[in-house]
Amino acid sequence: MSRVAYVNGRFLPHAQASVHIEDRGYQLADGVYEVWAVFGGRLADAEGHFARLERSLGELRIALPMSPKALKLVLRETIRRNLVKNGLVYLQVTRGVAPRDHAFPARPVRPSIVITAKPVDMAAAEAKAAKGIGVVTTPETRWARCDIKTVALLPNVLAKQAARENGAGEAWFVDDLGLVTEGASSNAWIVDADGVLRTRDLNANILRGVTRKSLMELIARDGLQVSERPFSVEEAKQAREAFITGAGSLVTPVVCIDGAPVGDGAPGPVAKRLRASYLSEASNRAA
Ligand code: PDD
Repeated sequence: MSRVAYVNGRFLPHAQASVHIEDRGYQLADGVYEVWAVFGGRLADAEGHFARLERSLGELRIALPMSPKALKLVLRETIRRNLVKNGLVYLQVTRGVAPRDHAFPARPVRPSIVITAKPVDMAAAEAKAAKGIGVVTTPETRWARCDIKTVALLPNVLAKQAARENGAGEAWFVDDLGLVTEGASSNAWIVDADGVLRTRDLNANILRGVTRKSLMELIARDGLQVSERPFSVEEAKQAREAFITGAGSLVTPVVCIDGAPVGDGAPGPVAKRLRASYLSEASNRAA
């Protein structure tokens, strides 16, 4: 099946889809993105991602180049044209095309928009989660506005590459106090020695994960204890369990940190249960 991308108002064959060389996203990383998981051809946590997209754009004073209603239709059409049942949709909006200059274009330009969709092999994803992943830790080197989901991802790229080179699936950023902020493309969690679920609070310099938020609701419903209290790398290594959340990873158990096993070195019961309930809840609510 040939893939199709949406670029500035047109559906194009993926291989021929392109943007201008002076797109500010390309030259200056002046843009934002969103990623939705797709279940049964529908968007998971649809509204949470739309709300964050609007917030990210607002913080950078970039206008959404179409109405939210039209955007939803285009996202669904991109999923449909790519025959994606389970997978991911990627959306990127940049400030647009203008002669290179750091400040905003003097004359307003139309923001650029690109949407792609790809299938995910759910059996392979489940097999990966059943095994669990390793994480490596890396110093927090990002800017102070990680709450904005910008396409400026170089520290995340380098962190993820370090993970890959060490046979790990994710990298956790660690701040000056030795506390974990989040992953290169996910939020970080532990089940601490007292059985309390811990993840970094939203006043910290992290992305306000949509999957994190949905999981919080599930956790509350399950009556599990949760605390948005930071944890150190050492605490994570001593934790009963660890896991990550994100549109790509959903809920994925972490079984070792910098080579040291977490718990007994196998996916923990809480993470496994939360993955199953997130999947079933998010699929039911997908829109
Ligand atoms: N990443 N933290 C960072 C730095 C992220 O890049 C992401 C998502 C998350 C989790 O957010 P959410 O639950 O809303 O997906 C946390 C996406 C999936 C990506 O970059 O591909």
